[in-house]
Amino acid sequence: MTTPDRYLSRAAMGFQESAIRAAGVLSARVPDLVSFAAGSPSPDLFPWDDLERVAADLLRSRDPAVLQYGATRGYRPLVEAIVTRLASAGVAVSHEMCVVTTGSQQGLDLAGRVLLDPGDVVLVELPTYSGAIAAFHNLQAALVGVAQDDDGMNPEALEEALVRLAREGRRARVVYLTPNFQNPSGLLMSLARRRALLAVAARHDLIILEDDPYGSLYFEDSATAADTRPLKADDTEGRVVYLGSISKTLVPGFRVAWLVAPPAIAARVELAKQAADLCSGVFDQRVVHRTLADGIVDRLAPGLRQAYQARRTTMEESLTAALGTRVAWRRPRGGFFLWVRLGDGRQADRLFPIALEHKVSFVTGAAFHVDGGGGDYVRLSFSAPTPARIREGVARLAAAIAHYDDGV
Ligand SMILES: Cc1ncc(COP(=O)(O)O)c(C=O)c1O
Repeated sequence: MTTPDRYLSRAAMGFQESAIRAAGVLSARVPDLVSFAAGSPSPDLFPWDDLERVAADLLRSRDPAVLQYGATRGYRPLVEAIVTRLASAGVAVSHEMCVVTTGSQQGLDLAGRVLLDPGDVVLVELPTYSGAIAAFHNLQAALVGVAQDDDGMNPEALEEALVRLAREGRRARVVYLTPNFQNPSGLLMSLARRRALLAVAARHDLIILEDDPYGSLYFEDSATAADTRPLKADDTEGRVVYLGSISKTLVPGFRVAWLVAPPAIAARVELAKQAADLCSGVFDQRVVHRTLADGIVDRLAPGLRQAYQARRTTMEESLTAALGTRVAWRRPRGGFFLWVRLGDGRQADRLFPIALEHKVSFVTGAAFHVDGGGGDYVRLSFSAPTPARIREGVARLAAAIAHYDDGV
């Protein structure tokens, strides 16, 4: 039975399906597919034994709080552990500034609810994370794209967009940035660029929403922890709302993440979260707390950096061997993604069905653009498949591109 549209809110009528999830649904029907689509961490890097022990300990304790409702702000020892970790990354915050969220995807939604009225402008990079586009779009915000260069969002382009919006009488409220190994471009912003963007935000009285799920996944052949210093660390005016997550550095299944904001904003986020889900999963938070407190997350990190760096290199070498200079990308210095320009007028949406026939998938670049661009790009995630599967998937992709070129 279909629901007549007349029952739906205007906002719901405008909801958009995630392109990544849609690609996932199509891909699920293809047996033996190599998926470069989802930005999932690798399950063979999950610390299964540690998690089994921690979960069993918690359940064996019969502590009623382990399975009860919890505080909306989050399990207090977890909040304290997050505050301590942020301090070691140069971000000095207090626990009143911190809210545990159900994934940083919920952080994007809650921050949007607290900071945006319908029609308000959010400035995003071209390209930007498709999940952020969906969150702000569903809140009826207007998304305006700002060009990227090799160093991330270009501050002059941001300034120009702000001047143009002011001339049109439109209210820009928020700039959304992923300075560390951006999804999808893989870019790492320099510290100078971060400061330049903070200065523009200060001049125009904007909030910066800093999304940082990949910061600790830097590749040691070309980046260090110092290169990933959050903007929040240099936020002297309280204009950065920061999102961190355990999804990429432990496991995404717990849905544990955190939002850090000036206390007045954090208090409103808490109210929005009360209405959304009362609290994030308490058992999940307790497990994550123990993995932080027991040093499991820290012990895991060097191995993750090494493994993802090796997968990046495997994907780059395979692409170069199979396609030479026919496609192009900037070498990512961390994270999960290669943002590949197909070149020679090839269009990702036309390549996609051919790629599925060759049992390989990716996300088309248009999913990450708010200006209708990006059609000649694909995002290839190297995080989840093993190196052997990456080699196989790139060979299939090269065959799909050859097939595409034959048909043109
Ligand atoms: C930039 C960015 N932000 C947020 C998220 C959502 O992460 P979480 O699992 O913490 O909700 C992702 C996941 O891919 C992401 O790439």
